[in-house]
Amino acid sequence: KFEELALTPPMGWNSWNKFACNVDEAMIRQMADAMVSSGMKDAGYTYINIDDCWHGTRDSLGFIHPDVKRFPSGMKALSDYVHSKGLKLGIYSDAGWQTCGGRPGSRGYEYQDALTYASWGIDYLKYDWCNTDGLKGEGAYKTMSAAIRKAGRPVVLSICEWGTDKPWLWGPSVGHLWRTTGDISNCFDCLEDHGSWKSLGAMQILDMQDTLRAYAGPGHWNDPDMLEIGNGKMTPAEDRSHFSMWAMLCAPLIAGNDLRTMSRETRKVLANKEVIAVNQDPLGIQALKYNMKDSVQTWIKPLKNGDWSVGFLNRSVSPKMVNINWGEMVVTDTVAKRTLNTNIATYSLRDLWLKKDRGTTKDPLNVSIPAHDILLLRLRK
Ligand code: DGJ
Repeated sequence: KFEELALTPPMGWNSWNKFACNVDEAMIRQMADAMVSSGMKDAGYTYINIDDCWHGTRDSLGFIHPDVKRFPSGMKALSDYVHSKGLKLGIYSDAGWQTCGGRPGSRGYEYQDALTYASWGIDYLKYDWCNTDGLKGEGAYKTMSAAIRKAGRPVVLSICEWGTDKPWLWGPSVGHLWRTTGDISNCFDCLEDHGSWKSLGAMQILDMQDTLRAYAGPGHWNDPDMLEIGNGKMTPAEDRSHFSMWAMLCAPLIAGNDLRTMSRETRKVLANKEVIAVNQDPLGIQALKYNMKDSVQTWIKPLKNGDWSVGFLNRSVSPKMVNINWGEMVVTDTVAKRTLNTNIATYSLRDLWLKKDRGTTKDPLNVSIPAHDILLLRLRK
């Protein structure tokens, strides 16, 4: 059922962050192979998503075809291949008359395109928002949502209108995830004004998520954009922090790097199962920002069985000491309707990056966190 397709945040890979318009079927097949051989599939990644620029033209009957040079075998053959690996295939279109990359959009062809995608065996549609003058977000996405349901194949619908029409208000009944901001840039902490657009680093996007936490839940997620881990600009500490925070935010975990050539270090970040378990926790409650003290932000996320994850994120460029007396940190989460109070129950601490136990909440925590790094803990009763 459409409503039950993303009960936990979708996990997969998308071509855009690394390859932009440079997509073709050989590369998509190799990415599916690498998803399996790297262990990413085992860690939970499922979707192989082709972003913009796969398109050729519409024929005289209005049917869309892939670019014959880039996808000579056609999309059905590609989805058969991806499915044979136990993975799912995603595609991209746009609510306007043209995509951001200038390819044919779905405006006026929504039902026909949804049928075409279903006949190709497509499992996920990212639906973009360029060239949409005169359209309203909610209405345009509702049309595609209805078209997908009518076509009858289960397809995850990714709403990509950058937060323009407050999609968190209407998105839950229309699609499974909605972008909350403009595009992520390949940097950790940067804000550059380019005139018509501003580049947003991972931290700039993070700062725009806290107020939206109540809108996320099983089946419908805030999407702070795809991952930049392994794309060469962020340090290992920054990759860890980016991944940890996306996990804490219940963000879709859509890798954006070249899976074929990624380093061991990158793979260890993307495939960290204990961090992924925080993201995929069945409660589906997005983390709350507890406080910020001396450049260290504390984020807290309720998990199943009364567990919590707690992240201490060092936003500064120098190492910071964190000294916590757990008993002083009593946190009531009004969304989860639950209180973390270690005066009443003792929790054991698990460091999700070192993969080591670290005592209990009876003892104070005193630890130095390197620049831009994070200490991510799971508290178990
Ligand atoms: C804008 C979206 O926000 C990006 O993620 C990407 O899909 C590009 N368009 C493709 O043109």
